[in-house]
Amino acid sequence: MRPTYAEIDLSNLKFNYINIRKKVKNKKIMAVVKADAYGHGVKETVNALNSLGQRKPEYYAVAVLEEAKELVGLKIKQPVLIFEPIIKEDIDSVLFKQIIPTVFNDEHLRILLKNNKQISSGSKAQSRIRVHVKIDTGMNRLGVKYNEALNFVHRLSRNKNFLIDGMYTHFATSDEKDKEFAYLQLERFNKLVFELKAAGIRPGVIHAANSGAIIDIPDAYFDMVRPGISLYGYYPSTETTESIRLKPVMSIVSYVASIKEIEPGESVSYGRLFYAERYTKIISVPIGYADGYNRNLTNKSKAILNGKIYNQVGRVTMDRIMFDVGNDNVKVGQKIILMGKDKGLKYDAWDWSHILGTIPYEITCNISKRVPRIYKD
Ligand SMILES: Cc1ncc(COP(=O)(O)O)c(C=O)c1O
Repeated sequence: MRPTYAEIDLSNLKFNYINIRKKVKNKKIMAVVKADAYGHGVKETVNALNSLGQRKPEYYAVAVLEEAKELVGLKIKQPVLIFEPIIKEDIDSVLFKQIIPTVFNDEHLRILLKNNKQISSGSKAQSRIRVHVKIDTGMNRLGVKYNEALNFVHRLSRNKNFLIDGMYTHFATSDEKDKEFAYLQLERFNKLVFELKAAGIRPGVIHAANSGAIIDIPDAYFDMVRPGISLYGYYPSTETTESIRLKPVMSIVSYVASIKEIEPGESVSYGRLFYAERYTKIISVPIGYADGYNRNLTNKSKAILNGKIYNQVGRVTMDRIMFDVGNDNVKVGQKIILMGKDKGLKYDAWDWSHILGTIPYEITCNISKRVPRIYKD
């Protein structure tokens, strides 16, 4: 096996999940496992969560149809919501009963109906197609606009081809310190829920809260919550409270592959972006931007080796990076932690994110397939 790997700590995943469970008490949980469980490996993530007996998630969610099919292939029992609507290119694909598409306009309904008819000769066609309706309360990305939703949901509820299993919205700023807009979204959604109930329409399982809202807006829990990043051990931003204890699940580990001694004035890597000011030792580590070690980390990131933090130096290359270890007694073969914790030191996806102007979501999703995932329980 390649000695550069992502260690996935499934006990931390379960720790985070159980802490979310405790926080939301009797609410249902829809575990968001899109993008290969944010880069952690969907199969192992789902198996770990499903090993929790009665506390396991009630639903799973993914972004696209292929991901939903992968989950069905794992023979899990829970329904799987697809956040993105089914598009006409997906017609003819079998929509297993367990897969719940998102809908928010008539075109989505037409596509689902056509698809259901087309496969009706087989046994897979559903008598009533279960859907979740997405309401746009201000994100302006997906969903029927909140002030047009009553009409749409009303019509849908009378359409015998469909069963409204749930209704949801998504927050744009639940992870920001200033919650004003999140509360406006919540108010719009609450109004719709109230109006639907008053009209005798059952919207099914109502859900809204992503990690930011789970952490900071208990009023947004409704019937079910949708944690993503918090499962994987990160707060969605640096502005939320830490009302739930979380531990990062992914670490990136490699080893000292070679050591080179260089003189003052010598440079390292492409473009000569680092010059030694003194005699020093440069180690090389077999990971690069093809693995998700972003090229913009050049000369800025750090790693943990032998209980000490060292600077990455010289241009990050496709397959290899270098560190300046000074005159320290470093040996070929020693383990180096590029993301994670060791001997009381920490260098995590937030440290990468601050350099790259991004968030841990993008960091863990971008650890490429070339990096084997090693699971620890
Ligand atoms: C609709 C929806 N719900 C929930 C989530 C989970 O969000 P988070 O990872 O911030 O918890 C996402 C993620 O992007 C999403 O798109």
